[in-house]
Amino acid sequence: MKIAFSKLDLPATGTAVVLVPSGGKLGKTGTQLDKLTKAAISRAIETGDFKGKRDAVLNIPAPAGAKLKRILVVGVGDVKTYDAIAAEKTGAALYEHTKNDEAATIIVEGVPDPATTAARLASGAQLKSYRFDKYRTKESKDAKPKLKALNILSDDPALAKKRNASLAAVADGVFFTRDLVSEPPNVIYPESFAAFAKQLTKDGVKVEVLGEKEMTKLGMGALLGVGQGSLRESKLLVMHWNGSKDKSSKPLAIIGKGVCFDSGGISLKPGAGMWDMKWDMAGAGAVTGLMRALARRKSTAHVVALCGLVENMPDAGAQRPGDVVTSMSGQTIEVQNTDAEGRLVLCDVLWYAQQKYQPRAIVDLATLTGAIIQALSEHYAGLFSNNDELSEKLIAAGQAVGERLWRFPMGDEYDRDLKSLIADMKNIGGGRAGSITAAQFLQRFIKDNTPWAHLDIAGVVWNEKGTPLAAPGSTGYGVRLLDKFVADNYE
Ligand code: BES
Ligand code: MN
Ligand code: ZN
Repeated sequence: MKIAFSKLDLPATGTAVVLVPSGGKLGKTGTQLDKLTKAAISRAIETGDFKGKRDAVLNIPAPAGAKLKRILVVGVGDVKTYDAIAAEKTGAALYEHTKNDEAATIIVEGVPDPATTAARLASGAQLKSYRFDKYRTKESKDAKPKLKALNILSDDPALAKKRNASLAAVADGVFFTRDLVSEPPNVIYPESFAAFAKQLTKDGVKVEVLGEKEMTKLGMGALLGVGQGSLRESKLLVMHWNGSKDKSSKPLAIIGKGVCFDSGGISLKPGAGMWDMKWDMAGAGAVTGLMRALARRKSTAHVVALCGLVENMPDAGAQRPGDVVTSMSGQTIEVQNTDAEGRLVLCDVLWYAQQKYQPRAIVDLATLTGAIIQALSEHYAGLFSNNDELSEKLIAAGQAVGERLWRFPMGDEYDRDLKSLIADMKNIGGGRAGSITAAQFLQRFIKDNTPWAHLDIAGVVWNEKGTPLAAPGSTGYGVRLLDKFVADNYE
């Protein structure tokens, strides 16, 4: 679908969309359309059938003989609360309404900031239009959306286009993530994930991949133990974007859990739903998409992204429940459950990131625990942090883009659950507050003065029903959140 920005005008063909705020006052172009339909719009408003309520939609077929197919009247509600997210949701809803039309034109008038609204409507429609259909060989043409062109009219199309440019760059990042996360696990495994990420070099991102030999030298026994039962080689993917003038500045580090398939290992998961564990790399997926977004919108921040890429499989060579591994930090871990593998991967990546880059702050994203889904369902991701200021910034960024975070408590009383009889710690807690004990485990690998936040995204990265801005499947959660966090605090 191509999105274009043009000057206000009466659309000649296809579907025309007019925005109407509560109160039902039509703008100039809306009034012209009203005339064309023999006052069908104003009559619907007068009879009280349509009050301009937010996202209420009125469908009016165009009169016989007109080239225009139909008019959709869309409620904006109270213009004072019609913010970026609201406009994106409208754009996404309008995409759903018009996706089988050949062309659609949205007329943006009667809102306080038409250029921003136009840019956001476009972004919402674009995000919602994503499909992952490369493996469908039998889909009929009719099942595919037909909408080829979405035209967005406003009084300053150049400004609208300019405001949309960075949003479109971020959407590119979201799509990159959705592609990675949607791919099946026979296609995306550590090596192919890293190869996929190499595409980012074309965007100006420096991409580096460490293999098992290098990681063995570094002493990453915890990460390597997880990959030990897999035929696929584990990888550490490092991506660098430095858009700042000061080339020696310390970076922000973003870290992703990239378990390309999580069978549970010897602590094997039940069969039903195990296929979902292809998206156990969604943290790494989000981090990788973020780098595309930052590069494509030429962010002035300095960000290093690291993804621990492994496959967790049962095998004669796999690690056993009870094994003790030595992490890169030197701390030993009793692996009581091979299905608590995400933390084993992350602890070595966290340590490596601090040793190598002395980051200003660290944010990690991981589909870490089923318990976070019990606590928050699909509506929030869990936030765990040693730093109030960092937490507030992340919560604010999430609020602004509609990828919300809810902070959980941490503390010694939870950390105690990780005590092992024979090693420095075990990799599971006592079974209660599982998301918090997982975060406590990670915190043991954070040096005292490094601001750190862990986002448990297990409930939000895959959605069977779809979300306001995503079709069913991979949501791309995290890209827009982190992009906003970086834009507001590191540029
Ligand atoms: N990848 C899972 C967490 C998960 C579960 C993500 C469901 C998405 C949906 C993780 O590796 C895991 O298996 N965690 C265990 C930890 C437990 C063994 C302490 C869990 O949550 O059950
Ligand atoms: Mn697991
Ligand atoms: Zn996992």
